[in-house]
Amino acid sequence: MEQKTSIFPYQIEDGLAVVTFDVKGEAVNTWTDEALIDFGETIRSLEKEKDVIKGIIFISGKPSNFHAGANLKTITDPNDSEGTDKVISRLHRDFFRMENLGIPTLAAINGACMGGGYELALAMTARMATDSPRTLIGLPECNVGLFPGGGGTQRLPRLIGYQAIELILKGKTLPPAKALELGMIDRVVPEKDDLLVRAKEFVLELIEGKVQLKRTRHDFSDLDSIIDLARQTVLKATRGRELPSHTLVLKSIHEGLKAPLEEALAIERKYFLDVANTPEAKGSINTFFLKTYTDKPAGMISKGFEPKPLKKIAMLGFGTMGRGIIIDILRRMQVPVVVKDLPEAIGPGQEFIRKVLQGMADKGRLKGSVDSLCDLIKPVSEWTDDFKDVDLVIEAVFEDPALKAEVYKELCNTVRDDCLIASNTSSIPVTELAKNVTKPGRFCGAHFFSPVWMMQLLEVIRGEETVEDTINNLLNFCAAVKKRPVVCNDYPGFVVNAMLFPYFVKTYEILESGVPIEKIDEAMTGFGFPVGPIRLTDEVGIDVIHFVFTKSLGQRAPQTIENVVKAGRLGRKKSGKGFFLEDGSVDPEVLPLIPAKAKPKDYTVNELRDMLFLPFVEVGKELLEKGIVTDPRSIDTGAIWGIGFPADKGGPMKWADLTGLSRKLYGSDFY
Ligand code: NAI
Repeated sequence: MEQKTSIFPYQIEDGLAVVTFDVKGEAVNTWTDEALIDFGETIRSLEKEKDVIKGIIFISGKPSNFHAGANLKTITDPNDSEGTDKVISRLHRDFFRMENLGIPTLAAINGACMGGGYELALAMTARMATDSPRTLIGLPECNVGLFPGGGGTQRLPRLIGYQAIELILKGKTLPPAKALELGMIDRVVPEKDDLLVRAKEFVLELIEGKVQLKRTRHDFSDLDSIIDLARQTVLKATRGRELPSHTLVLKSIHEGLKAPLEEALAIERKYFLDVANTPEAKGSINTFFLKTYTDKPAGMISKGFEPKPLKKIAMLGFGTMGRGIIIDILRRMQVPVVVKDLPEAIGPGQEFIRKVLQGMADKGRLKGSVDSLCDLIKPVSEWTDDFKDVDLVIEAVFEDPALKAEVYKELCNTVRDDCLIASNTSSIPVTELAKNVTKPGRFCGAHFFSPVWMMQLLEVIRGEETVEDTINNLLNFCAAVKKRPVVCNDYPGFVVNAMLFPYFVKTYEILESGVPIEKIDEAMTGFGFPVGPIRLTDEVGIDVIHFVFTKSLGQRAPQTIENVVKAGRLGRKKSGKGFFLEDGSVDPEVLPLIPAKAKPKDYTVNELRDMLFLPFVEVGKELLEKGIVTDPRSIDTGAIWGIGFPADKGGPMKWADLTGLSRKLYGSDFY
């Protein structure tokens, strides 16, 4: 039988043990079950050989990753409730044993050294890192609803003092120079040097006492007030919302720093188990997985499919959306773009794009010069030969089916038969529009969100005639312009607006039952939305919401919206008047426009949240049942990146599972 090789094998040469760890078959090293077991065995084995070992170096076998930390799948596995406890207990025990070997230990870091990976390094005598741009060091766990539970909340403050608190709360990861400055690592070496050779030199210096490590005994006597200040700062940033990860990590640091390390680790473990059990941690981790999945749209393309090269793109319409889409094509793809609109729309469109690109350049966020990118735009007002060699056309003219039909007929006479065509329509059925396109298999919806260069989401809509190659090619386009795709079948409102409008219906029903505007909005910002639904209406444009209700969805708009639009209040940004005043308070002038009920209802905040959350779940269920999307992840991605659904809830489908609502309503989970 073949002998299993350890993930943490070591070799001893001249009294130095070099542990070269590598979780084989994975892109990065994480604390898998096997890695945890092997690490423990390695430590035990090193303990036995203590007498012949003078120093130990830990170095990764992967070319550009030291260690990425915990394996989030282990922590969230619902079938393994003991999993988290096992992981934390093993990490604590074996890091502690390593720390107490009585032999100098050194982490030789190249590439990401994060979370449980940096906690491994923290339990060593010293840390050195290369200056590679890929070397990043820190404890990002609070960003995924957890906190560092492998000793990080105890060892980092003991190493660098109070500065650790902010780093942990913000989940910051730092380049090597900054990490060195803060004392998180002890030495930086050039990437071009042989890291192992440099590590051996360093460990010999440690053994021979030739190097004085910067170690301060930090004074934590004013810890109570520092923790209190940190708590207030967090609450200010979250506008009063308690995040379990931040609340519990502060408790862990607060109580732990008052105890000796071994006791402190037990305190950390207790709070970590609490945080890992919160639905917010599981929701945040779901969002992390959604992000990882949609970060690489190319990975969603059917296996073996060769996408069509997109060497030249055309844009129809140089309005709000046309301009935004061109900005992203230019900055991400640097390919020529033909844009067609009326002559009077050309100048303002070009000026706008230049201004936005210049703003990006000023912040150092633009590849290529503003001039060279703007030179790629070819504006036209006629169907010129410029369209003949275009690979993809995106249409964003007025939302008028007759106009779009006419535009497609002319377009199809001008472009090649294999040119892909996508419409940015927000409400006209893609299948209807396709009737005006010759070879309709090449046609689909590509629904962007405004402002395009800031919104990451793109809905790719499959009409009845759309062929799979077209969807695959659009996924390739998403990858090129760095958009997060949600692929769906044709449906009123697609995914995002299909959820958003029932949420608005419920909002105005509640408002008209007598609940104050502030109370409704605060219920949802308290849940984690960046803005409440009434402020969202105001910001999008109350007339736009009215238009979608009446024209796109063919429904009656809520009476309040009718009245407010009729009174010429289209939203504060748009017409200076809407629901709110400049200072953010409700405009008293709008109140008489809300139909009043004789006996206003007095709902609790939780009742309001439940009522306003329900439409998301009901629509999501319908989208899945009707096969509009096949995976609850598509709905959650749409809600998080299209509507601002709170990331720590993991999306409406995941949140319904986590809170038990899915089982209560439908007898099973969505995931
Ligand atoms: P817009 O009114 O800002 O721009 C439309 C542009 O189309 C105008 O510049 C107009 O001159 C031009 N146009 C009209 N007829 C044309 C023709 N025959 N050939 C070429 N250009 C022509 O409208 P916006 O907001 O950019 O919307 C465009 C499309 O995008 C619509 O289908 C809309 O539903 C959709 N959409 C809009 C969103 C938004 O937030 N504004 C979000 C997502 C989709």
